[in-house]
Amino acid sequence: MRLLAPAKINLVLRVGPKDSADGFHPLVSWMCAVGLFDTLILNHRLESRPAGARVATPDRISSAAIDARSIQAEDCRVSLHCDDPALPTDGRNLVVRAAELLARLNDDRGETSSSARRSSTARHDENVWEIVPSNRHASIQLEKRIPSGGGLGGGSSDAARALLGLAKLWRLDASIDQLHALAAQLGSDVPFFLHGTSSVCTGRGEIVQPIGQPACKACVLILSGIVTLTPAVYRRFDELTNVQSDGDWSSQPPWDEWIKLSALDLLPKLANDLERPAYDMHPELGRLQQRAQQLLDRPVRMSGSGSSLFTLYDTLPDAARAAEHLREQIHIDRRWDSVAVSLAPKIEDDLAI
Ligand code: C5P
Repeated sequence: MRLLAPAKINLVLRVGPKDSADGFHPLVSWMCAVGLFDTLILNHRLESRPAGARVATPDRISSAAIDARSIQAEDCRVSLHCDDPALPTDGRNLVVRAAELLARLNDDRGETSSSARRSSTARHDENVWEIVPSNRHASIQLEKRIPSGGGLGGGSSDAARALLGLAKLWRLDASIDQLHALAAQLGSDVPFFLHGTSSVCTGRGEIVQPIGQPACKACVLILSGIVTLTPAVYRRFDELTNVQSDGDWSSQPPWDEWIKLSALDLLPKLANDLERPAYDMHPELGRLQQRAQQLLDRPVRMSGSGSSLFTLYDTLPDAARAAEHLREQIHIDRRWDSVAVSLAPKIEDDLAI
């Protein structure tokens, strides 16, 4: 099974004051998938291990959400091979954690009706897990094209695609609610990737409301190569933000009108509250944003907690010309690139969703 996991950008990212109970920040974010993809190849059979390959087993996964009773070290095996040697291929990789969580999903009830699905969700909520069936094995190859740590959600997207793909491969009767619950355990951005290509995400990002696709069809991604660490950017956000938030961050604009706007009409309305802390920590990123805005003569925004920047165009040829212009004009020391990609692309892989 061949799966394409798209990157995302945060067209809007408004952040509220930190919730003292869980340490996360409440958000309002309009997220959109973009046409830059990692590829996952899933095989049901666990391949014989090449020398040096690492195989993740449940006892190497630390997730409090997994009921200890369900851990059967030999029952579930997932091997991950990745073409980026910098990425871990054990339980630190979200794809492996997604597979391990899914392998423990109770699916042995033989129920298929919608009422049965509702009851299975309830059982899942009560954390009733059964032992992992022995056929829930997988060998996964991951080809990375989305830069890691760039605010483009690559790891989250890989994990979400793995959940959907393995549920199909293993013929699980898993409802979207069950997959969503697993996705939310894996990370705040993961649920977005289960639900189409344009959504407003709230809560800590895990409450996903799909909206229409934007009328503008393309964006230029500026892959800055600068490393911004998400928890550190949120911490600087806390330091720079008044404890008394005015609540403005939580107001919801008329999304149905915004999706109809052309790129030049939409861009001035977009905002990312993490830009200030990210540019404060990485002034060279702020300078790159300023320079790109001048060269392209339109607003440039940051995605997520950085370090990728983006701007929008109505068509892909317009975006391709702009990306080329940036490559010609910007000469900076760091490893960086600018690429033109489609916004909210159709994802044509082996998942019929
Ligand atoms: O959920 P995820 O693992 O992607 O979050 C990474 C880190 O980003 C969290 O540990 C937290 O520091 C920060 N974060 C946050 N509020 C959010 C999402 C993430 O503070 N809504």
